[in-house]
Amino acid sequence: MRIALCPGSFDPITNGHLDIIERAAHIFDQVLVTVFYNTTKDPMFTVDERMALAREATKNIPNVQVDSCQGLLIDYARARGVNAVIKGLRAVSDFEYEFQMAQMNKQFSEHVETLFMMTRPQHSYLSSSIVKELARFGADITPLVPAVVAGKLTAKFKENSELARRPYAAKEE
Ligand code: PNS
Repeated sequence: MRIALCPGSFDPITNGHLDIIERAAHIFDQVLVTVFYNTTKDPMFTVDERMALAREATKNIPNVQVDSCQGLLIDYARARGVNAVIKGLRAVSDFEYEFQMAQMNKQFSEHVETLFMMTRPQHSYLSSSIVKELARFGADITPLVPAVVAGKLTAKFKENSELARRPYAAKEE
């Protein structure tokens, strides 16, 4: 049984994440989609909310399991018998940070590999932060995220109505 780990903050899960997860699920027997804490980020959604969104978004991929972890990725990977950590690379700018994490994780375990998957071009500009920013100002995020996420984000910002936050939107469109 070959097990892959797709780790991330998933705050929230985007179509870019989903694409990497789907592709990993074709290669590995089981894919763990695990919500981790990233100490450099201040999340909008709770871990439970992020797990629920990831679960709904991946419900049609039978070999995906959604989980969460508050500890170190490498400890979790070892405990779950993970063979490979899968990370998506969008641009050269992702590389330095990902390279550092991969090297550090390798120091801690010889048996867990980090593999990088190139993001599809249409997702190369996509990030959870950009999606939240767009949603905050009332832009249409439906092409960028699973439907359940679009609904949740729209609800979150509903009180700040679109036109109040986009005073020029009516003129531009
Ligand atoms: O989606 P993100 O925020 O880019 O994912 C980064 C994440 C959560 C995978 C990374 O911060 C992480 O691995 N966190 C767990 C704690 C850990 O192991 N840190 C040391 C990494 S060398």
